[in-house]
Amino acid sequence: MKLEIINLCCSVEDKEILKGINLVINSGEIHALLGPNGHGKSTLLSCIMGHPKYKVTNGSILLDGKDVLKISVDERAKAGLFLAMQYPPSIDGVSVSDFLKSCLDAKNDKPVSLYKFVKELENSCNDVGFDLNMVHRPLNVGFSGGEKKRCEILQMETLNPSFCFLDEIDSGLDVDAINLVANVLNKMNDGSKGMLIISHYARMYNLVKPTHAHVIIDGRIVVSGGIEIIEKIDSKGYEWIKDELGIEIKKEESSPKIMLGSCGAKVVKND
Ligand SMILES: Nc1ncnc2c1ncn2[C@@H]1O[C@H](COP(=O)(O)OP(=O)(O)OP(=O)(O)O)[C@@H](O)[C@H]1O
Ligand SMILES: [Mg+2]
Repeated sequence: MKLEIINLCCSVEDKEILKGINLVINSGEIHALLGPNGHGKSTLLSCIMGHPKYKVTNGSILLDGKDVLKISVDERAKAGLFLAMQYPPSIDGVSVSDFLKSCLDAKNDKPVSLYKFVKELENSCNDVGFDLNMVHRPLNVGFSGGEKKRCEILQMETLNPSFCFLDEIDSGLDVDAINLVANVLNKMNDGSKGMLIISHYARMYNLVKPTHAHVIIDGRIVVSGGIEIIEKIDSKGYEWIKDELGIEIKKEESSPKIMLGSCGAKVVKND
């Protein structure tokens, strides 16, 4: 399969964040995406999945030639796109196991047998060190940072997507958990899937070896290559991009002074 992102531009709250992203991911490839904080990495994944707040203003996303931007979020998931979120939301009242079974049944044409589902869930929980008792708890409610990330991987294993997008999956995970997650990713990397892994740290990329690496600066991919890019960022940071490519890394624009009025608590009148 092939995912093509062509000249993708995106705005959030009328602010232009992505300014022409070009990226092609084929099955069997693992792409690393790096870049300083706030330069558009998560925004790119939100656009691919169809978050309603992120308005695509130009460009296209094609999955085997099919226009992804024309289909709804659930259809994108059914087509095989999966996002392990940087900040997974909590859903009170919906247990992890009910959530996973509903996702799986929605993706497949007919419901999976309960016996098969429970067996596979047990295996996946063991793979990521997710406490079996936790599958009865409401999704992410009160979960620790690491438990949330393990739960994202649990979802990925259950749904077995064609394209896996992992947004800082390693943040919040202890060292043992990072190894477990990397094992799952390496097991799933059987040539039938494409992966895009966002991480700030070389440790993750030493465990799950990318075939390609990209750096995003101010909403554009400014450098692409192999793992040598990751090694360079790990040892030198991002300054070399300015020195070698002449690309300025913008700091946050100076904003107007914080006004007392905008911070003051409003009095709510109950008429
Ligand atoms: N829902 C939103 N509302 C307002 N601004 C947003 C929203 N989502 C993203 N932005 C802004 O878009 C810019 C890019 O954010 P994004 O989350 O894509 O960065 P990132 O590269 O993933 O950073 P990090 O490495 O810190 O995760 C930031 O300035 C951010 O504040
Ligand atoms: Mg991010």
